[in-house]
Amino acid sequence: MSKRRRLIVGNWKMYGRLTSGLVLARDLAEKAQANKPLDFDMIICPPATLTWAVSETIMGSPVMLGAQDCHTATHGAYTGDLSAAQFADLGCRYVILGHSERRIAHGETDELVARKVEAAQLAGLTAIVCIGETAEQLAAGSTAEIIEKQLRASLPDKCRMAHLVVAYEPVWAIGSGQQPSPADIATVHKVIRKTLGEAGETMQIIYGGSVTPVNAGPILYEMEVDGALVGSASINSDGFWAIAEKCR
Ligand code: 13P
Repeated sequence: MSKRRRLIVGNWKMYGRLTSGLVLARDLAEKAQANKPLDFDMIICPPATLTWAVSETIMGSPVMLGAQDCHTATHGAYTGDLSAAQFADLGCRYVILGHSERRIAHGETDELVARKVEAAQLAGLTAIVCIGETAEQLAAGSTAEIIEKQLRASLPDKCRMAHLVVAYEPVWAIGSGQQPSPADIATVHKVIRKTLGEAGETMQIIYGGSVTPVNAGPILYEMEVDGALVGSASINSDGFWAIAEKCR
């Protein structure tokens, strides 16, 4: 087991309406409260429509709040966008940035992600930066090279390493039911750690992609894996809690 504190992050994506989202948040807050002090960190990242209501619901519990994206600016004429400072106002402490769904569907580049990381850290948030290879890159055997390049380019020059979490999310593993082996995940995490230099030793590096209560155990058992970024399995409180308990 790693000496770094474990971190389990729920990315609700575009799931959750007011009632279902609040039931989920309340269930998790109650479970976390009943298991205090938690020996891992739990963060939930609801859609922005639920941020404030979820914030109120989990207030006082060990569950922490995150956003799923933010703009590069603090404010301005950006219709439909939301800034890191606005999320911080609502009690967010984390923000997921550079998720492959945003890179692919919204054309987000490494350079844009780096600017968002800078904005998030300036607002006092910890950036959870997602990187990962595609199926083609995996097949070409270029995973390590892609990971190193993507990571370097997705971080700003003055990155605050204490406010950074790296999430290794192979694009081909997201929502597909497929995954690298725990040993392969550990190998990529070592590449990430090496790329980060000295800061890599203490950095929380987490894995995401089709994590479920059934497969989470062997992944989280790896010393190199400091936690999980969970998508579809995070919108069921029992399932998400069962994954989190594997952090112990
Ligand atoms: P799934 O767990 O649904 O594969 O999603 C992973 C993910 O994208 C988390 O950010």
